[in-house]
Amino acid sequence: MSKHPIGIFDSGVGGTSIWKEIHQLLPYENTIYLADSANAPYGIKSKQTIIDLSVKNTQFLLEKNSKLIVVACNTATTNAIDYLRQTFDVPFIGIEPAIKPAALQTKTQTVGILATKGTLSSSLFSKTSTLFASNIKVVEQIGDGIVELIEQGKLYSNEMVSLLKLYLKPMLDANIDYLVLGCTHYRYLMPLLLDLLPKHVKIIDSGEAVARQTKAVLEQHQLLNSLKVKAQLHFFTNGNPEVMESLLENNYKVDFLNF
Ligand code: DGL
Repeated sequence: MSKHPIGIFDSGVGGTSIWKEIHQLLPYENTIYLADSANAPYGIKSKQTIIDLSVKNTQFLLEKNSKLIVVACNTATTNAIDYLRQTFDVPFIGIEPAIKPAALQTKTQTVGILATKGTLSSSLFSKTSTLFASNIKVVEQIGDGIVELIEQGKLYSNEMVSLLKLYLKPMLDANIDYLVLGCTHYRYLMPLLLDLLPKHVKIIDSGEAVARQTKAVLEQHQLLNSLKVKAQLHFFTNGNPEVMESLLENNYKVDFLNF
């Protein structure tokens, strides 16, 4: 069982940013990544649709013998992970916006969060916000259109820069000193954000924490792969493999899947 792969899914290519963290921390673990790009973005869909798609993705990864599933999508985690945990008998790791560290560290008592509508309107997010950020100001911003542009391979485009300027303005006007990235796609915006944000605004995301949690849960279940041989890494998408290959770099091959 420990040689079985870690299954990872996202609504698209964004979760590859989480896969990179996992692979860096656990280089001998076999992995299967599924991008449901044909159905992206999840962030504008109903909770029930997000649950249905997450179940379908999980079933695919379990058919491939995944020993643990990483839901590398904030939208799917905040809307569907409870259901997944109740339904399938395998450990799940999710990702949520890192509002807590931002709230603990802010000096201006104001933080910004960029995420999808589905994440910001979820009850899990509002619970976390109330718990950790009720004494500070949180400027929430829906990142409409960002996921679509990344899925179309238009990461470094004028359209993207215009959208980001528009979304950052209310946050900067409110004097944020932390920006929380609440969507795994947004990790790829880092070079653009570093360019657009004043130096004192720090960016927080949860990718590394997810990798550490994945390792801890594998240890806890005695599922870490003891074989120290080159890992088998499989990537599947029902969208455009070339977009994913360009984000993955290192000449990884992505297979198209009619899914
Ligand atoms: N990567 C997903 C997330 O973390 C994108 C959501 C979407 O498809 O709208 O939320």
